[in-house]
Amino acid sequence: MYLILKNVHLTLVSISVAGFMLRAIWVRCTQLDQTSFRKPKGWLSRLAHAIDSLLLVSGLGLMALTHFTPFNTSWLAIKLLLLLGYIFLGALGLHYAPPQWRTFCCILALTCVTSMALLAIEKPTLW
Ligand code: HEM
Repeated sequence: MYLILKNVHLTLVSISVAGFMLRAIWVRCTQLDQTSFRKPKGWLSRLAHAIDSLLLVSGLGLMALTHFTPFNTSWLAIKLLLLLGYIFLGALGLHYAPPQWRTFCCILALTCVTSMALLAIEKPTLW
């Protein structure tokens, strides 16, 4: 059960990050070529939200199985703070930041998600 859930978690991480990168590239391309600007299709955003929700559920499932919680495991506490950074910076980069800041916000969001993966793999004891 643990191995299945962990592989599901890793698969969802890959799909979620790849989807974010594709949307970030799409936002950048439409900025460069204003004439081809199109609003993102509604179903695409809904699919991205569904995948992110499943990713959260798989993470909660892993917490339940491993008994790691943000209160007893420092890397997980930092990882969840970085998750907030990823969501916030991702929303700025894809939707809300002024156009000239969007690429920068997307790069910071990707830095957060990379740090999350490294923390989960290395599992350092931080305090
Ligand atoms: C984009 C977001 C996320 C990324 C990039 C990510 C990345 C990873 C990676 C790479 C691992 C495997 C570590 C290993 O090889 O041992 C992992 C495990 C884990 N993740 Fe995530 N994760 C994300 C979201 C979440 C969320 C939202 C939660 C909790 C609500 C969570 C909880 C966990 C737990 C508890 C493990 C430990 C499993 C174990 O090693 O036994 N993750 N994560």
